[in-house]
Amino acid sequence: MAYIAGHTPAVLKGHAARSADDCAAYLLPHIKPTDHILDIGCGPGTITLGFAQRVPQGRVVGLDISDTLIEENARAAEQKGITNVAYHVGSIFQLPFPDASFDVTHCHQVLCHLTDPQAAMAEMIRVTKPGGGVVAAREAIMETMVIYPPRLALTSWKEKLQQMHRRTGQHPGAGQALHHWAMQLGIKPTQIRSSVGTFCYTGQEQREWWGSVWEQRCVSAEWEESMVVPGIATRDELKEMSLAWKEWQGKEEAWFAMMHGELLVWV
Ligand SMILES: C[S@@+](CC[C@H](N)C(=O)[O-])C[C@H]1O[C@@H](n2cnc3c(N)ncnc32)[C@H](O)[C@@H]1O
Repeated sequence: MAYIAGHTPAVLKGHAARSADDCAAYLLPHIKPTDHILDIGCGPGTITLGFAQRVPQGRVVGLDISDTLIEENARAAEQKGITNVAYHVGSIFQLPFPDASFDVTHCHQVLCHLTDPQAAMAEMIRVTKPGGGVVAAREAIMETMVIYPPRLALTSWKEKLQQMHRRTGQHPGAGQALHHWAMQLGIKPTQIRSSVGTFCYTGQEQREWWGSVWEQRCVSAEWEESMVVPGIATRDELKEMSLAWKEWQGKEEAWFAMMHGELLVWV
C-alpha cells in the first residue's frame, strides 16, 4: 500500500527534523563501529546518516518505497562526503537482501503505517544475523498525544487522525504492541527489551516547526483525499484544525507530547 501521508514538503519537514540521537537513543548503545545497519522506511534519511556516523568501519543501507526520496538521499550523502551509506528502493515486505545480512535492522515510524506490520517484522528478523544481531523499531502510540493548551479543534485533529489510520488498516497504536507481535513470531521474552520514548515539543522554535507542519498538512491535497473523501472530516473542520495549529504556534505556553513504543529483539 502507498504511504498515504505522501512526501509533500510539509511531511518531509516533519521527518527531516529527526535524528538518530532523538529517535534511536534506545538503540545507540548497542551499535558497534563495525556494524552493518539497515534503516527501513528511511524517509529523508536524517536518522540513517546519524547511524552512518556511528559506524566508521561499518556500513549503512537506507531503504524506502519512494524512489524520489532515495535519489535525493543519495545526493545529500554524496554532498556531505559520507561514503559508508547506500540507498535502495524497496519494500519492507520483500527486502532485497539475503537472510542474515545485517547486524542491526531498524525502522522508525514505519510499522504503524502498514496493514500487516507482523509480516514486515518477520522480514526484518529474516535479514538480521542470528546470534547477536538486533532488530529495532520505534513506533507511535497516537492515543497518548497531549496537546496543551486544550482546544476542541485539536482534540478533534487527534481523534480524526487516528480514525484515518484505522480506516486504511494502519495501526495508530503500534508502539504498544511491538513486543507482542515479536512474541507471536516466536521470539522469546528473554530476547526482547521494551521501552518507551517521547516526543516533546515546546519553546518557540519547536512549536513553530510542529505547528506549521500541521497547519499545512490539515489543508493539503493528501488530507482532502484521506479525510474529506471518506467522510471523516469536512473541509470546514480541516480549516478549523489548520487555524488552531496556526494559533497554537503563537502561544508561549504551547506544548505537545507523545509516547512511542521501542522494541529491541536479539535474534
Ligand atoms: C513516517 S515516515 C518515517 C521516515 C523516517 N523513518 C523517519 O522517522 O523520519 C514512513 C516512511 O516509510 C516509508 N514506507 C511506507 N511503506 C513502506 C514499505 N512498504 N516499505 C518501505 N518503506 C515504506 C514511507 O515512504 C516513508 O518514507
